[in-house]
Amino acid sequence: MNLFEAVLTRRSIRAFRDITPEKTLIDDIIDASRWTPSWGNTQPWNVTVVRGEKLNRFKKESVRLAMSGAPAEPDVPMPEKWPSRYLERYRDVGRRTLSSLSIARDDRKERDAFYLRMTELFGAPVLVVLSIEKELSLEYAMLDAGAFIQTLCLLAHEKGVGSCIMAAAVRYPGLMRELFSIPQNERIVAGVALGYSDGENPVNTFERVRVENEEIVRWVDDDSDGP
Ligand SMILES: Cc1cc2nc3c(=O)[nH]c(=O)nc-3n(C[C@H](O)[C@H](O)[C@H](O)COP(=O)(O)O)c2cc1C
Repeated sequence: MNLFEAVLTRRSIRAFRDITPEKTLIDDIIDASRWTPSWGNTQPWNVTVVRGEKLNRFKKESVRLAMSGAPAEPDVPMPEKWPSRYLERYRDVGRRTLSSLSIARDDRKERDAFYLRMTELFGAPVLVVLSIEKELSLEYAMLDAGAFIQTLCLLAHEKGVGSCIMAAAVRYPGLMRELFSIPQNERIVAGVALGYSDGENPVNTFERVRVENEEIVRWVDDDSDGP
C-alpha cells in the first residue's frame, strides 16, 4: 500500500471483529509512530495500550457511568459550539453513520443504544490512550499528539488494523487514571480504538465526504508551472 492509497482508504472503523491483534503487531505500529515530528522533537506523547480484562472493565464502567447520567469531565474540554458550516459537517457525518445502520434520527432508543456501543468503543479489542504532561503548552502538545495519532492510524491501516480516534473514549479520565494507572500529572487527550474491521458492517462502508480544495486552499503564487 503506498502512502496516497493509505491516506485515501483509511476510515474510521465503528464495528470490530472479535479477534485481538497481537501485542507485537501493536508494538511495531507504535515503534514506527515514534518517528512522528513534534515541536523541537519534544515527543510529548505518552501512550497507554490496553487490552483484555482491564479494557472490558473500562467498557463496563464507562457504560455504567453514562447510564447513570454522570457528566463527562474530559481533561481537554469538548467544543460546545460550532460555527454553522462546521456544525453542518458534524451533523452530516452523524446522519450518515446512523442511517447506515438504519437508525432513524427520531428513534431515541436506537440512537441511545448506538451511543452506548460508542461508549463500549464499538467492541474494539485494543484501546490506545494518548496523554501529555499538564506542564506542557496545551496547543502545541495537542498538535504533536494529533500528528502522532494520524501516523498511528495510517500505519495500523497498512497492517490491516482498523482504527477509530475517539473523544468519546476519554469522557471519564478519572476512571482511566484509576484502571490504567495513568499519572495525575498527565492530561488524557484522546483514545484510539484498534482492531480488525467488521468489513460486512454498513457502518464501516458508508460513503464519506470532504470539502473540495477550492473551499480550503488559498494559493498565493505568481509563478506559472505550465508552458
Ligand atoms: C479528535 C477526534 C475525535 C473523534 N471522536 C470520535 C468519537 O468519539 N466517536 C466516533 O465515532 N468518531 C470519532 N472521531 C472520528 C471522526 O468522526 C471521523 O474522523 C470523521 O467523521 C471523518 O471520517 P473518517 O475518519 O472515516 O475519514 C473522532 C475524530 C477525531 C479526529
